[in-house]
Amino acid sequence: EQIEKGGYEHFMLKEIYEQPNAILDTFRGRLLAKEAIIKMAGIEDNMKKFLNADRIIIVACGTSWHAGLVSEYIFEDLARIPVEVEYASEFRYRNPIITEKDIVIAISQSGETADTLAAIKLAKSKGAFVFGVCNVVGSSIARESDAGAYTHAGPEIGVASTKAFTTQITVLTLMALRLARAKGTISSSDFRHHLIELELIPDKVKKALESDAYVNSVADIYKDAKNCLYLGRGFNFPVALEGALKLKEISYIHAEGYPAAEMKHGPIALIDEQMPVIVIATKKGHYEKVVSNIQEIKSRKGKIIGIVTEGDESVKNLADHVIEVPESSEFLTPLLTTIPLQLLSYHIAVKLGKNVDQPRNLAKSVTVE
Ligand code: G6P
Repeated sequence: EQIEKGGYEHFMLKEIYEQPNAILDTFRGRLLAKEAIIKMAGIEDNMKKFLNADRIIIVACGTSWHAGLVSEYIFEDLARIPVEVEYASEFRYRNPIITEKDIVIAISQSGETADTLAAIKLAKSKGAFVFGVCNVVGSSIARESDAGAYTHAGPEIGVASTKAFTTQITVLTLMALRLARAKGTISSSDFRHHLIELELIPDKVKKALESDAYVNSVADIYKDAKNCLYLGRGFNFPVALEGALKLKEISYIHAEGYPAAEMKHGPIALIDEQMPVIVIATKKGHYEKVVSNIQEIKSRKGKIIGIVTEGDESVKNLADHVIEVPESSEFLTPLLTTIPLQLLSYHIAVKLGKNVDQPRNLAKSVTVE
């Protein structure tokens, strides 16, 4: 096992550090930035179906569901296709409306999650086209799907999903861009620009990992917190959910992810000087609005940990700590902002002496309902 961990103390940390390469592997053969081409056999072979689809329904569980939520923002923004993101377990028991003009995308690291598998069987029985985004080759969901695209994250051993999440977002981003180009919802020059930006992501993830030592020192300060709040907007709202899930899973600290603007409708009541609030406040998008959310937290004496774009000054002046990530196009920021949140949960859990790779009560793959 020590050899498999490749010198890292835990699989989770190894997998966090594998992300630049995992994303590169997921690009391989698909992203040809110089030629301005995205090649994905599962899409090319079924392009007509994708172009005629009324909507995309994404079904998934856990972290994979969060990757689905991120991609909802990306698909709608770039490819202008309506997207619904469903917990597989709710969807399958709801007598959902599914037609032959729906495309159902199932996202699953293991490809074995019982609820997700059952959801796609239901969707197929109603005539929908099912596209699988799985990590494990030949898994049940991959086999049951009509077409698909694998994430090439390599084996993920840590129960808390890390590199599977970022490679799922990578595949879904490639899909959204390919469809946007085919539909003509983005110009060829924007397309070209997005591909070049995407190609830079693995190096930027590497850069984001350089915050590790600083994140570790922040973890020291907040490891005894009883509650944590994670806030984000737009593309980074699902990242806030994922950050909170990661902390819950491995440190057993209660954490909630919320859309930053919704804070005033409830969670703001929880804020006092004991409450760490992790706010994703990267430039572009809703930056100014998030800054005003941060002011609201500060005036209630909450402790603020800002995830900001390199060189940011405004948040630095307000927050107790800032963790920088490299600048990038807004729709790609989730691939970067996720990194410090993974590291923060990891370090807190290690400091609390928890079993990081195999947290209590959780399984890597949930093959029962
Ligand atoms: C379990 C795992 C999570 C995972 C979820 C969905 O709860 O502990 O890490 O996100 O299942 O798994 P899947 O394999 O379908 O992505």
